[in-house]
Formats: sequence, structure tokens, C-alpha cells
Amino acid sequence: SASEKGGWSSFMRKEISEEPDAVANTLLGRVVDGAVVLPELGALTPEVLADIDRIVIIACGTAAYAGLLGSYAIESWARVPVQVELSHEFRYRNPIITPRTLVVSISQSGETMDTLMAVRFAAESGARVLSICNTQGSSIPRESEAVIYTHAGPEVAVASTKAFVAQVTALYLLGLHLATVRGTLSPAELAHNIDELQAIPAKLADVLVASEDIGQLAGWMADTRSVLFLGRNVGYPVALEGALKLKELAYIHAEGFAAGELKHGPIALIEPGQIVFVIVPSPRDPSSLHPKVVSNIQEIRARGARVIAIAEKGDAAVLPFADEVIPIPLASPMFEPILAVVPLHIFALELATAKGLDVDQPRNLAKSVTVE
Ligand code: G6P
Repeated sequence: SASEKGGWSSFMRKEISEEPDAVANTLLGRVVDGAVVLPELGALTPEVLADIDRIVIIACGTAAYAGLLGSYAIESWARVPVQVELSHEFRYRNPIITPRTLVVSISQSGETMDTLMAVRFAAESGARVLSICNTQGSSIPRESEAVIYTHAGPEVAVASTKAFVAQVTALYLLGLHLATVRGTLSPAELAHNIDELQAIPAKLADVLVASEDIGQLAGWMADTRSVLFLGRNVGYPVALEGALKLKELAYIHAEGFAAGELKHGPIALIEPGQIVFVIVPSPRDPSSLHPKVVSNIQEIRARGARVIAIAEKGDAAVLPFADEVIPIPLASPMFEPILAVVPLHIFALELATAKGLDVDQPRNLAKSVTVE
């Protein structure tokens, strides 16, 4: 009903506006005196977690893209191999599971049957099983050894938005906890990353303000038949998530690519007028990714693409080559994706709205898929 939407035109618009709170509430009480504190890990004690030799993240849909982003952070901080698998693929591939394997499931609803079955299979195969979930008392947490609840609040719109940023937050907390128990980050590095994480909610609020013109952008794209998304490193899961949202909500063919892969195939798709979103790494990133992505932009621009860059505020290098720039606040490279994803959530919402579609209940989709 209108009152449940609190004055918003849709649940999805309301839930996007709650993305800063979803992160803040997921952090609440979990950073104490500058350290990550996760008492809910219970049987997954520091000794157990220090001895894990591999992590497998399992999830479906948006949650799997949160997992992919988490895999970059956990590997980088905790120096443990992390693999991300779709739940329904994991279970049927005869995966290698040992008592030193930690399986981390991610599910907003806690009821996705594919993920529930994969969790059950992992537990029966002798893995340690942790879940990240947004719904208290749901099925997946009940079958897991421990659960980190995301505190995004109830999510009603079929397409997941605030749950995504909360899931990434939970994974980053887990990564920093693993780095602590495994001794893989210095106290200064830990403190820096915890500060960056705690700064995200305020920066997300800035992103919401900076995204107010996206409705206009979407308006002139309402007739487009295909949109591509490019990202590299931690920008890659953002590209995949942006494309999924557009398929789900606007029924437009959309694909996310790793920007480095462009020359290995996808560049053949570029023709005049093709709309391409590019998630641009920070120019302050000590790796050489920023110039590489800027040169990707030049390559597609030269072939007539219309480029919308999501770039750090003040990134002058992209300005000459982009048709539009959506600025995001400064953050450490690992944290930029949590900011960069929000304009893509808004873009999908606005484009679906411009096409007159029901953003809360897209055709053919269910909020929670309780069949295999
Ligand atoms: C369905 C929804 C998606 C969601 C996926 C996983 O397909 O339409 O939006 O990402 O399920 O849901 P879960 O509740 O497990 O996170």
C-alpha cells in the first residue's frame, strides 16, 4: 500500500534511498574499539578460521555478485583462496570439499531453494558453513553453523538493492575479521580499512544526491535495445550487477564485461550509438588500471559508443571521452564499488519507469525462488 511505501512511488525507490542505512545498520555494533567483532560466528572460532584453507561463496542472482566482490576483498586481505559459485552449479559439479573448506552462502531471503540445497550439500560433505542472510529465522540460517545477519530491513521490491550493499558490507567485515585472526594485515592496514568501511554510509548519501539527474539520462535512452557495462577488478562485479538490474527491470538486453576482455571479443559489438556504462577505477589507484580503463573508453568512443562513466569526483582524464560522467566520492579502491553500484540501481529503476513498467513486480520474476 501507499503508506507502506512511506510516500515513495515504489518500494524499489524507497529501498534504494535506504542503501546508506542498510550499510550503517549492518556495521552497527560490529566495530568496537577499532576492531571487527562478530560474536555470532560461534563455533567458527578464530582457531577454526585461521585453519581454513579455502573459501567457496555460493549464492544466486544479485547475491552472487555481492559474493564476487567479497571474493576480491577476502583474498586480498586474508590471503585465502576464494572461489565464487552459483549455488545450482556448485552442488552438481562434484566439488572438492574438506573439513578445512569454509562455505559462505549469501541470500537476502534465506529461502532460495538452490542455495538452501547447496548449503545442505556442503554441510553433509563436511565443510564448515557460514551464511550471510537478511531474514531472521529463515531456512538457510537454520541449516548453517553460523550466520551473519545483514540488517538491511525488509526488502519488498523483487530486484535486490539495499540487500546487495548490506551483503557486501557483511563480506567486508568477514574479510577484515579473517585478516585479523590470520594476521595478514598490519594494525595500520586494518584500521585504515575499518575507517573506510565506516565512512561508506555518509558517502552513499552523497551518491544519492549526485544521482538525481539519472532520470533524465534514462529518459532519452528509453528506446534503446541494448546496454553494455564495463568494469575491471572490483568494478567488474558492479558491471555484472548493473546489467542484471537492467534485464530484470527494463527488459533490455544488457551484458557486463570485464574491461580487459573487451579486445578479446565484446568490442565487436560496438557500433555507433551503442550505450556503454564504464565503471572507472580511481586515478589514485596505485595499480595501472585507471589509464587502461580510460584507453578502453577511447577505443569504444572511437567506434561511436555513447559512454556514461561512473568515475571518482574530479577525475579529469575521463571528461574528454565520456558523454556523461556520474561522479562518486573518493574512497579506497576496494570500497569504490559499494558507491559505484548505486547509480546503476537508480538507472535501472529510472529506465523501467520511463518505459512505464512495474519496478516492484517485474514480469516472470519472484522475490524468492523456492523451487529448484
Ligand atoms: C531471485 C530474485 C533476485 C535475487 C535472487 C537471490 O532470483 O529475483 O533478485 O537476487 O533470487 O535471492 P536471495 O533471497 O537468495 O538473495
